[in-house]
Amino acid sequence: MKMLDGGAGKDEIFDQTGQVVGVFDASFSVKRGEIFVIMGLSGSGKSTMVRLFNRLIEPTSGSIFLNGKEITGLKDKDLLGVRRRDMSMVFQSFALMPHMTVLDNTAFGLEVSNVGEQERYRRSREALAQVGLAGHEYSFPNQLSGGMQQRVGLARALANDPAILLMDEAFSALDPLIRSEMQGELIKLQAEAQRTIVFISHDLDEALRIGHRIAIMEGGRVIQVGTPQELLNNPASPYVEAFFKGVDASRLLTAGDLAENAGDRVVRSDSDAQGKASNHPYRYLVDDRDRLLGVWDASSDTPKRIAREDLCTAGPETSLHEMLGLASSVPYPIPVVANEGTLSGVVSKDALLRSLCRQV
Ligand SMILES: Nc1ncnc2c1ncn2[C@@H]1O[C@H](COP(=O)(O)OP(=O)(O)OP(=O)(O)O)[C@@H](O)[C@H]1O
Ligand SMILES: [Mg+2]
Repeated sequence: MKMLDGGAGKDEIFDQTGQVVGVFDASFSVKRGEIFVIMGLSGSGKSTMVRLFNRLIEPTSGSIFLNGKEITGLKDKDLLGVRRRDMSMVFQSFALMPHMTVLDNTAFGLEVSNVGEQERYRRSREALAQVGLAGHEYSFPNQLSGGMQQRVGLARALANDPAILLMDEAFSALDPLIRSEMQGELIKLQAEAQRTIVFISHDLDEALRIGHRIAIMEGGRVIQVGTPQELLNNPASPYVEAFFKGVDASRLLTAGDLAENAGDRVVRSDSDAQGKASNHPYRYLVDDRDRLLGVWDASSDTPKRIAREDLCTAGPETSLHEMLGLASSVPYPIPVVANEGTLSGVVSKDALLRSLCRQV
């Protein structure tokens, strides 16, 4: 610990002491109801991190809080309660019992928790139906495909009805089609029940598809936490940047990210708009509450007003991809209109090109 505090790296510590740094300098919080993805190269400490959450691994130092309560110091009995009630884990290797039916595998956690037979089968059937396995209750694991076995693992976690799901590369063993289907399933489940999900992945496409926020780990450290857009726009280091290389920004960035202040393009009366005061050929007419009323096209000698209903506009959440379509159909920078019709900025063709260009 002293060496770490002194700034020594993982390799140096291993060389000198033979000790492996699993996780170090990792402070962040996960919000209730979000899908929080942990990403990083192999060996960067992802699995160690989630195993610290449910204390399958005891931290040498530091604290972990659940709903404001420190779980690092809990006694065995209380810890067991947390594991049964609050968190369930889905493993990469499905960890099913080969001699037990799908239903019994699903009910296993509940049985260990002494839930009565009727109740545990009811909850297990419900969970199996949720993951699309109704009708397979009496099959054995070896009669199922890998994807179906993974679903049993997920159903087993869901049957516990945990507030928090910990998923360690839970979909890595699945083929791409089934994997994508399971990701969709997870997004649906999360939206329905507002579960908090901590999801480990080393697949960026997966992280971007399902993650509300992403933490990037390197050599045991958490080096950046943020939304996909934040990480893409402001990578904390070349390592983070490397993760995002080749990501199709048009899927990720939105009009809100690209909008620039409309500044002196804004006019408040038709006579202002027709004057020659502004250098901008397109002027955005707003009322006294900044609501967009129209755009004046002053690119020719006889300025024309384009009415609000004839304008192409974007919302802050409109994707860059859609923006490209809009921008190619009209000559003026696209106005970004926020709630209640107020003009929050404009996106020029230059800004669109720049954002695409940076990706190459
Ligand atoms: N039981 C263990 N004993 C000793 N060292 C371990 C143990 N488990 C993991 N480590 C080490 O801790 C570090 C972090 O490993 P961890 O399994 O958390 O990585 P990971 O990010 O999950 O990698 P992967 O993507 O390959 O699953 C590695 O250097 C690894 O060698
Ligand atoms: Mg791992």
